[in-house]
Amino acid sequence: MKTPIACFIAVMLLLPAMQLVAGGQGEEDVYETTFAHVVSADTAKGQAAERFAELLEERSDGRIRVEVFPDSQLGNDGEITEQMLLGDIEFNAPFTGVLPSFAEQTQLFDLPFAFPDIDTVYDAMFGEVGEIMAEYLQEQGLRTIGFWDGGYKAMTNNVREIRTVDDMQGLRFRVSQSPLLIQQFEAMNASPLDIPFAELFTALQQGTVDGQENTLANIYTRQFFEVQDYMSLTNHGYLGYIFLVSEQFYASLPEDLQQIVDEVALEVSDWQWEAAADENEEFLDRLREGDIQIYEPTEDELDTFRDATAPVYDHFRDNIDGGADLLQALYDVRGFE
Ligand code: SIN
Repeated sequence: MKTPIACFIAVMLLLPAMQLVAGGQGEEDVYETTFAHVVSADTAKGQAAERFAELLEERSDGRIRVEVFPDSQLGNDGEITEQMLLGDIEFNAPFTGVLPSFAEQTQLFDLPFAFPDIDTVYDAMFGEVGEIMAEYLQEQGLRTIGFWDGGYKAMTNNVREIRTVDDMQGLRFRVSQSPLLIQQFEAMNASPLDIPFAELFTALQQGTVDGQENTLANIYTRQFFEVQDYMSLTNHGYLGYIFLVSEQFYASLPEDLQQIVDEVALEVSDWQWEAAADENEEFLDRLREGDIQIYEPTEDELDTFRDATAPVYDHFRDNIDGGADLLQALYDVRGFE
């Protein structure tokens, strides 16, 4: 929905005021843009999108306007990203698990137990791993302007408490379209099904699937806890977001606006990481107050998941273009293989 609108359209009467706003440079284009995403506006990601829109409009003196559409209003993440490539949507911060159809390398972030702590995720995303990832996405017409935090994933389901990987046997689990996530759940002897995020609540409610994996923010704000009996804090995987702008749109901007987009995106990314850390604590407290039965597996129990899912690392290294280098970059940043 990019529509650079020439300001001179505005009625000549407005021109003096516009010149002021534009710093006296005369006629300026105003870019009407769209930021679409799939989560609730109440999450750190949803709030960061709003904050980005406000700050960008402010710092660009109104030359870039951003309308934010949360809650899958403009489609699921795959559809939104397609629309970015078609030039219809400018911004999104998709979960890495929906990006493999654009750049298969993003599956690195979905590897089981990839990151021992959130600081390591940050260092990976804003270091060599993130740089390599950004190059692959850039080749597809998607420019990376930041990384946002979702947090570790918990598992919820309606059948039984999950303590070890044996408890996953035969459970129908919703995962996103990432082939690596599908392999992971197959390795746990569960039956993974790819269902769009917007349809997940109904799928859980109607029993199309028994369970799902997600961040505490999504489990809380999407009310999954209302239609699920059990939650295990497995932290078996990490869910992060890559903040993207359509390259086609970015390239159409004058250099000063490109710089403002870059600066605001980084500033908002910093804010988002802090907000996400806070919200994860808060949402866990709220979930503990509800009816969902919460279990925290021991390290020995988690080892059963580690052992069962370890082969997906080999698969990533051997089957993903550049997989060995990316894995090495991950090992370097986390300090162990
Ligand atoms: C998101 O947090 O953006 C979506 C997560 C999911 O698809 O499970």
